Amino acid sequence: MTSRSSSTHSAAHGAGTLRLGVNIDHVATIRNARGGRHPDPLRAAHLAVEGGADGITAHLREDRRHISDTDIARLKSELTRPLNLEMAATQEMLAIALRHVPNACCLVPERREERTTEGGLDVTGGLESLKRITGELRSAGIRVSLFIEPDLAAIEASARIGADIVELHTGAYCEKALDDDAKGIAREVERLARAATAAHAAGLEVHAGHGLTYNTVAAVARMPEMMELNIGHFLIGEAIFGGLIAAVRRMRVLMDEARAPAPKRALKAVK
Ligand code: PXP
Repeated sequence: MTSRSSSTHSAAHGAGTLRLGVNIDHVATIRNARGGRHPDPLRAAHLAVEGGADGITAHLREDRRHISDTDIARLKSELTRPLNLEMAATQEMLAIALRHVPNACCLVPERREERTTEGGLDVTGGLESLKRITGELRSAGIRVSLFIEPDLAAIEASARIGADIVELHTGAYCEKALDDDAKGIAREVERLARAATAAHAAGLEVHAGHGLTYNTVAAVARMPEMMELNIGHFLIGEAIFGGLIAAVRRMRVLMDEARAPAPKRALKAVK
């Protein structure tokens, strides 16, 4: 990222504005489909920052299906914006987080068979172990976020655990939006709004994410307590549509150049 865009960025995103964390997991999903190095999640992270992202989010899953340990090391050392490491609340992940010291860790539930993070953390059931892991991360200077359902019991438990942040799961709201279910949308937006207010009142910083799109972002972005939204899958999908024309054009140019009759150049050289 150039220093010019960096200063433009700070001016446009002053204190009090809603931060955007861009989740780059699915750049790694595409890369891993071929097992090579392209497309590089770090390059995508730099572009996301160029586009106005305030931070980068990456989920190091236990099965390493997308982001790898090397990606985390590279992101941590080369990123110009804070790294939010999403991870399961396990000893293995705790050790990795303590080694890299990202700006924040978002603790998420993880099941091997799931396609994505389904539902929020069981903060009441896992209270004691979450408290311990949260304490260790915080002692290392890492901000701790808990990815929870927008429910009052989960918010109370998160405050008891000692988290800095709760990230409210917007999946149910986005599902209702995909179904065009107006009543369901209104109900889920109300639930998120109440949760945001309660979390803020409990002294927790409020974030949200999962499944957000151009169509669903505004209702959540409007909530006054909201400090950060983390968005991934939709943005990486949209990038295909925004970038495919340019990529095909470039390939067309390279092919045409390779086939362009070189004789003119060659003849000139002979003369
Ligand atoms: N926030 C958390 C905690 C997540 O687990 C995810 C998905 O990895 C996201 C945000 C981003 O969700 P999506 O990729 O659907 O935008």
